[in-house]
Amino acid sequence: MHPAPGPRPDLLRRLAARTQARAQAALLRRLRAVERADGPWLQVDDRRLLAFCGNDYLGLAQHPALVGALRRAAGDAGVGSTAAHLVCGHRREHARLEEALAEWTGRERALLFSTGYMANLGALQALLEAGDPGARPGPALCVQDRLNHACLLDGARLAGATLRRYPHADVAAAARQLRGDAAAAALLATDGVFSMDGDVAPLRELAALCAREGATLMVDDAHGLGVLGARGAGSVEAAGLAQDEAPLLMATLGKALGCAGAFVAGSAALVEGLMQFARTYVYTTAMPPALAAAALAAVELARREAWRRGKLAALVARFRAGAAQLGLPLLPSPTAIQPLLLGSAEAALQAAQALEARGLLVAAIRPPTVPAGKARLRVTLSAAHEEAHVDRLLDALAEGLRGRVTEPGDAATGNR
Ligand SMILES: Cc1ncc(COP(=O)(O)O)c(C=O)c1O
Repeated sequence: MHPAPGPRPDLLRRLAARTQARAQAALLRRLRAVERADGPWLQVDDRRLLAFCGNDYLGLAQHPALVGALRRAAGDAGVGSTAAHLVCGHRREHARLEEALAEWTGRERALLFSTGYMANLGALQALLEAGDPGARPGPALCVQDRLNHACLLDGARLAGATLRRYPHADVAAAARQLRGDAAAAALLATDGVFSMDGDVAPLRELAALCAREGATLMVDDAHGLGVLGARGAGSVEAAGLAQDEAPLLMATLGKALGCAGAFVAGSAALVEGLMQFARTYVYTTAMPPALAAAALAAVELARREAWRRGKLAALVARFRAGAAQLGLPLLPSPTAIQPLLLGSAEAALQAAQALEARGLLVAAIRPPTVPAGKARLRVTLSAAHEEAHVDRLLDALAEGLRGRVTEPGDAATGNR
């Protein structure tokens, strides 16, 4: 005899209730279609807005060399790769891009994934899941910065690892968490450049800690690649960390490189292992080869045209000096991500609306993407901007934020 079924909650109704609760808390996300993009200018709802919210840090997304490479490769190979890499989707364009990425980042090999989210899920799953029959039983330990990107957190959770999150950039706390389970296989994962704060992780200290504790360091350099380092190879290059010190380097192709997709770089053995076990690599269609060709053109430009990094750095300095003069709530970020901390979700939304009324598009970032009480305007700069654009932004901020800047409340824990 089966027990009589109780009243079953309706999943769609439950989801609708959550959406409604979000709307009431000023946390609803809104999708808008960009009608046309022209460098940093975006046409939205029939208005031409100057955008400071994309991640095209080097201004490559519309570069003729990328567009030409994409067109040529699509002309040769068509659009779809037609299969997973390990079936017959791996084309010479992918192979060339992987070689160029490995060379640029100073790693033995690189492996492409279709997005950064997939790269992180796959790498964490392959490394952290229990797989070695001779290994000590029990889950692996994954120690992460509290402000890491959502996909690093999700990767550890999906892998069934024990996840410990240390306070932002707190190396001593990370050390305590590692020592708390000294016998477990352990990975320490951190953003290289934090996506919502723009600051750089203490990578040298974290690498030294991992060496002492026998843990593996993974750096997600989605926002550092192309921007930091003498050769633009990112935060790991800037920190001077060799392959054995930062054995797992992940970065995306959709930000400073202006394309889409991602890669993990490291030793040949790491890449071979990911090819065998990373489910988001094995069981998915390879990215279109034309996109790989465009990304290769982007890597070449990012390496050759160092002036893009120089211009970006000068724009960042100009913005920071102007914002400091205006008394705006800047965070200590040396990168293209320059958030202004406003506190409540309502304050961030109203500030974004005030800027939009002045012709500027800046994203309001609210919980759960950032901790409660830490909502912000996420200003991002690009080599596609000009000094006059930055000045216009500063003028609009001076007017638009007048009377709106309050002391941010106590930081609760972000739950993304
Ligand atoms: C730090 C970080 N890692 C990973 C990702 C995911 O990359 P993708 O957009 O290619 O999925 C993002 C943002 O998108 C990010 O900011």
